[in-house]
Amino acid sequence: MTGITTTGTPHLGNYAGAIRPAVAASRRPDVDAFFFLADYHALIKCEDPERIARSRLQIAATWLAAGLDPERVTFYRQSDIPEIPELTWLLTCVTAKGLLNRAHAYKAAVDKNLEAGEDADAGISAGLYMYPVLMAADILAFNAHQVPVGRDQIQHIEMARDIAQRFNHLYGGEFFVLPEAAIEEQVATLPGLDGRKMSKSYDNTIPLFEGGTRALREAVMRIVTDSRLPGEPKDAQGSALYSIYRAFASEAESADFRRALEQGMAWGEAKERLFHRLEAELAPMRARYEELIARPAQIEAILDEGARKARAVAAPFLARLREAVGLRAPR
Ligand code: TYM
Repeated sequence: MTGITTTGTPHLGNYAGAIRPAVAASRRPDVDAFFFLADYHALIKCEDPERIARSRLQIAATWLAAGLDPERVTFYRQSDIPEIPELTWLLTCVTAKGLLNRAHAYKAAVDKNLEAGEDADAGISAGLYMYPVLMAADILAFNAHQVPVGRDQIQHIEMARDIAQRFNHLYGGEFFVLPEAAIEEQVATLPGLDGRKMSKSYDNTIPLFEGGTRALREAVMRIVTDSRLPGEPKDAQGSALYSIYRAFASEAESADFRRALEQGMAWGEAKERLFHRLEAELAPMRARYEELIARPAQIEAILDEGARKARAVAAPFLARLREAVGLRAPR
């Protein structure tokens, strides 16, 4: 089970950290996978309805282009599953406020306010504060065991475990499985153009498909490197360029690339090589993406069917949880 927030166009970090490993896992015969578009989460950061709708379509087309098979995987919009906000409330009532005070995203927003000499909570919505509980409901509504994510989401998964444990304990049963983050070490934090984590909020992303070959090439050429000249040995380990290359190449290719850098390959040439490596992996998917995005009705139909499948799992489970806490089960 994993999701992506629908606030922008997917970037290489989303692909390498979550989409690629999730799609690979979903092909295993022993895996029952749930992938979704986190459009309720999107409302926390974005008040532009058009952008949310556009992003939802782009992210859905990206999943499908990356090889998600909607026949095998339950693929849906979060907002089509009313059991998720319902479970969010049941979980909210067993979640310690102190736990949410420690969430990285909330703490970062508070620190920013304090640095600016503002009130700690100035401009922070209750939505941002509750973010981890909504995410716990996404995961626990389907009792997911493994959640493929990048490193930035680990804390959220740990909170989902805490909340699940608390609920199980309070209501005396094994209602929830305790979920685990499934992290690929190599790509757990893919760096962006400036070497920091690739992120929409840092504006340092390399787009996956948007803008085509040209945008990909332009972005790769903008990756920040140090000022070592051609012929001078380069520090591969410390460079964003090498980290990105490594996430898209075999071990042998990466070792070769690293040796070339250490032996003085020019940064310009390294960028060319990275661009060609990325283009080789992304071009066939981009062609599928363009076909899909031109047929939004088809995507919406796939998501409608996914919502039906997801609710068939979540609704009876919620009925059981309602009874467990003393509410009337829906008739
Ligand atoms: P979001 O939309 O910020 O990111 C989607 C996924 O991409 C991963 N990712 C990265 N991985 C490696 N390197 C990077 N630079 C990088 N940037 C992003 C993220 O770790 C994530 O796996 N809260 C989630 C969405 C969500 C969710 C869930 C995920 C909502 N409910 C339930 C899993 C399960 C988020 O905002 O991800």
